[in-house]
Amino acid sequence: MLTLKKNTAALIAEAVKSGFGEGLLSAEEVFTMLEYPPDSSMGDIALPCFRLSKTLRRSPVQIADMLAAAIKCEEFSSVTAVNGYLNFKIDGKSFSRRVASEVLNLGDSYGSPMNGEGKTVVLDYSSPNVAKPFHIGHLGTTVIGHSLKLLHEFAGYKCVGINYLGDWGTQFGKLIVAYKLWGDKSTIEQGGVDELVKLYVRINNEIKAEEESNEDKKSPLADQSRAEFKKLEEFDEENIALWRWFVDVSLEEYQRTYKLLGIEFDSYKGESFYTDRMPAQVQKLRDMGLLEIDDGASIVNLEKWNMPVCLILKRDGSTLYPTRDIAAAVYRKGEYNFDKAIYVTAAQQSLHFAQWFKVVELMGYDWHNQLVHVPYGTVSVNGAKLATRTGNVVLLKDLFAEAIARVKEIAREKHPDDAECQAIAEKVGVGAVVFHYLSNNRMRDINFIMEDALSFDGNTGPYAQYTYARTCSILEKAGDLGRSVTDAALSSVETELAKTISMFPERVNAALSDYEPSVVTRYILDLCAAFNRFYHECSIVNCDDAELRESRIALTRATNQVLRTALHLICLQTPEKI
Ligand code: ARG
Repeated sequence: MLTLKKNTAALIAEAVKSGFGEGLLSAEEVFTMLEYPPDSSMGDIALPCFRLSKTLRRSPVQIADMLAAAIKCEEFSSVTAVNGYLNFKIDGKSFSRRVASEVLNLGDSYGSPMNGEGKTVVLDYSSPNVAKPFHIGHLGTTVIGHSLKLLHEFAGYKCVGINYLGDWGTQFGKLIVAYKLWGDKSTIEQGGVDELVKLYVRINNEIKAEEESNEDKKSPLADQSRAEFKKLEEFDEENIALWRWFVDVSLEEYQRTYKLLGIEFDSYKGESFYTDRMPAQVQKLRDMGLLEIDDGASIVNLEKWNMPVCLILKRDGSTLYPTRDIAAAVYRKGEYNFDKAIYVTAAQQSLHFAQWFKVVELMGYDWHNQLVHVPYGTVSVNGAKLATRTGNVVLLKDLFAEAIARVKEIAREKHPDDAECQAIAEKVGVGAVVFHYLSNNRMRDINFIMEDALSFDGNTGPYAQYTYARTCSILEKAGDLGRSVTDAALSSVETELAKTISMFPERVNAALSDYEPSVVTRYILDLCAAFNRFYHECSIVNCDDAELRESRIALTRATNQVLRTALHLICLQTPEKI
């Protein structure tokens, strides 16, 4: 697939070769030097020739003049030298013809860099902590993670999506105590995770109250919780049964949210799975002399790398978060032989990942540089901050439910049938939340405002889905017409649309190399804008000129294809009618 940039780079490299000699400049190098002028009346793509002066030992003006004279290609109506810049102007017709035919021939695979074949990527994402709320803080890991999975699949990688459930830890001791004291089976069966969270919040509050009122700051409830967790670790039958039940109840609920988002995981092996896989790694650390004892705890000293110590075992010998991650990574390497393992979490965990990645390196695992941490910024809703322990949080399921309910209100008029209305509202409501979230660079801290996400006029998910539905309805009317761009002359709106369509492969590449789904989201907005401009200025199916009609429908068909692919890459559904 030749994108505008690749094509231009190849032409320039060829001209440099014949004009200046072999081996001076590769097409890849030229590729990185090309620019899109902000004002396309200057050209559609340009090469600032001062970047070549040193290599070619000429002034930018001389280089631009020589190259302008040498390059001929029917896809460009002109190649001109202006003040040391080499400006390329696209020939609308032949360019649009090539782009449309590429898109229509390649179909669903148009835009794929196809560079993942034979390689495996393991993605660890979403991973909520059982019995703690699945809240807005997990939106990032869930949708960035899934979008990265879709992007890698699109590029041909074999992907393994892992939900590394937080299904082990002292919180289960607390939960068991709370359940035995105040819990009730049928309440939990009906109320699900919310009821578990209530118990968890209540015991945390009571522990705090005990600590505050007791002179010695001791809490009997905390002691009991520790004892129950210890029993769990020793596989006490009753506690194991309770634990499994808590996990199942929670999973059932998470899966409802995943279903709305169209997410399926290949593995749900959570933290508990690694309990008996940790000792071997701890032993290896010890044998290699990497463990130091610090105030009774076992640590790896990372001073040389300007990081605080990595805690491996607590004083009482119990394992920690990094210990489990190390064991899990070793297991996954053995199980999947990944070429890359991606972890998507909030940026607060960046140090944790940097630390244990380093420990894995020190342990001599040669795959340490295949581990990638993808962090993201914080999310607040209408300005409200998060606080898990006090239960003051916005739950993901509530966020989606609210979006769905609001869309339903609007959609009811057009879709009187309730089931149909619900189905549309789910696609649009959930899509709106996801789109809104994924339109920001992942590291940015964002404040989520529902009105902004749902607006049909703004740069939103509903607007993008609506534009897609618009292309569908045009194509429905067009029937079998519009399979290629003809010889009819095209205006600048049409050329701009073709140009935007041709940018897709480049944007996919950027999204993949920066682990940044928002590049795709913003591309979708560019494409919608270019298409809607075209739609408002040009009559398509009703165009009187048969040749021009054919070209316009072909461009609509290509837009439809690319929009569908792009929306799917950021986890959005593509209803054909809204
Ligand atoms: N359960 C953790 C949390 O909610 C996230 C786990 C991320 N993955 C990992 N391998 N550490 O904070």
